[in-house]
Amino acid sequence: MAPAEPYALPFQQQGEVPNFPEELPGWSGYVEWEKYPEKKKQAEDVLAKYDFPKPPEFQFLPLPDTNPILEGVRWKYYHYAMGKTLKDIPDISWKYVLKEKSPDMIHVLQFPYNGEPPRDRLVKNEITTNTDHFVRNHGGIPEINEEDYFFEVEGLVNTPKKITLKELKDESLFPRMSTVVTLQCSGTRRIEQIHEYPGDGDELINAPWGEGAIGTARYTGVSLKKVIKYCGGLRDGGKHLEFFGADTYFKKGHIYNYGVSAPVRKMKVNEIMLAWEMNGEPLPRIHGYPLRVVVFGYIGARSTKWLTRINIIENPSMAPVQMKEYIYYTPQIGKQNATYSNGFSIQTMPVSSAIMTPINHDQIIHDGRIKLTGWAYSGNGWPERVEVSGDGGSIWYEVPYDKLSKKYFHGWRTWEFEMPVDAEGWLEFCVRCWDNALNTQPTYVRSAWNWDLHVTSSCHRIKIYSINKAKPETAKRLTAMESKGIPMVPITHPLEIDLETDEEYIEAMRKRGGRDPEE
Ligand code: MTE
Repeated sequence: MAPAEPYALPFQQQGEVPNFPEELPGWSGYVEWEKYPEKKKQAEDVLAKYDFPKPPEFQFLPLPDTNPILEGVRWKYYHYAMGKTLKDIPDISWKYVLKEKSPDMIHVLQFPYNGEPPRDRLVKNEITTNTDHFVRNHGGIPEINEEDYFFEVEGLVNTPKKITLKELKDESLFPRMSTVVTLQCSGTRRIEQIHEYPGDGDELINAPWGEGAIGTARYTGVSLKKVIKYCGGLRDGGKHLEFFGADTYFKKGHIYNYGVSAPVRKMKVNEIMLAWEMNGEPLPRIHGYPLRVVVFGYIGARSTKWLTRINIIENPSMAPVQMKEYIYYTPQIGKQNATYSNGFSIQTMPVSSAIMTPINHDQIIHDGRIKLTGWAYSGNGWPERVEVSGDGGSIWYEVPYDKLSKKYFHGWRTWEFEMPVDAEGWLEFCVRCWDNALNTQPTYVRSAWNWDLHVTSSCHRIKIYSINKAKPETAKRLTAMESKGIPMVPITHPLEIDLETDEEYIEAMRKRGGRDPEE
């Protein structure tokens, strides 16, 4: 039974309370599973005793109008069922959300915690604050003491080693690197796919993200290439780097530590960092303290937090997050025919962009111009041009170069634009980005729909209602409403005043030649 925190649930233990001890002193919440197949089996036997709740239906039904939006009930129960060392993890995770994140985060999923910042704030700065940076977790947040921390390097490496954080920070052993990196979850903008064409409905794997599962920070640490060199280099056949985290992950009745991989060539070009600092501060616990991997340009999933182990292997990892998740299928593959092998594994992120203000369904009173703000990103290069359209994509305007934030090899660019808007009524605004290799974005959500609802990289579209007060008729109506203290917005509230007087109507009809023809 979890402590009586606001979101703790009543829980009935089945049979004896199991005991899966923590692996190391000073590593609270870290149970090692991957090294102990027997222990895994015991935990899976425990899981098999329960009839856990099913995931909520959040795709065919509207999302709950609550914050947290989804709670993750079954994920809490998985942890409660594991006994002493893991039962409090959901509450500990929530405690760090309240401590380390902005109070107005949008909690997409309460546990495992997945959250994004309010839309307008995300693009206020080109560097996202640590408190506003999105969080994506598959499990809880281990509490690891820096003095007790080390990670292992093993597998196809000449000299396997255990390396402490103190050693890693020793500049006589490892030169430091520091650079700006955008991390993007492949679930960013998933809500657009959900609204149009629902897909797999696991509330964690396919959390209903908006446009904010992306963030940019300056990370400081050591290039993984230097660490591999320190371990005597790779042995023959070493082609992939498998990373494990200290958190526990449950999938289809099995239990794991978080595990993924990246190809060795990414390390060789110095595009994998082991980072302990985020924007000049120690990593927040929720972002991987004391040490995480940062893989530049790749899907955020590879940037393993709370790193325990780097294993050099021949083929991509068969850990479930690598092998069974973050797979991109064609539109004709789905529940009926998807396999782990018939989609491709998402690694480099494609070109994408989003309008962050205004937001969908905003009703805007303006005088012929509407200000737009947003972000643009490419995992394979950098955004070179951003274009916006006020008519659904027929006429495109280029965002001037001085309205785009600074270029980085591995970072997004935020942008703003004053869009000329003459038309009134519902308009569709959209944005697309071109990267330095001339790649751009698919036109419609439908063009790139995929069963697991990943990488919504089609042009981002919002519908806004335009009220152009530069138009005399509109200005007249606004003045009339204002004099009576009647608000224009929301437009759906019926207008309590008459639209015109009888005299005005008769005069207008006369000028228009009447309702019907004379002959
Ligand atoms: N590392 C561990 N150990 N556990 C996780 O659940 N989530 C991954 C990655 N690293 C994850 C992890 C995913 S899917 C993403 S998108 C990024 O972390 C998110 O990083 P952030 O939470 O620091 O923004």
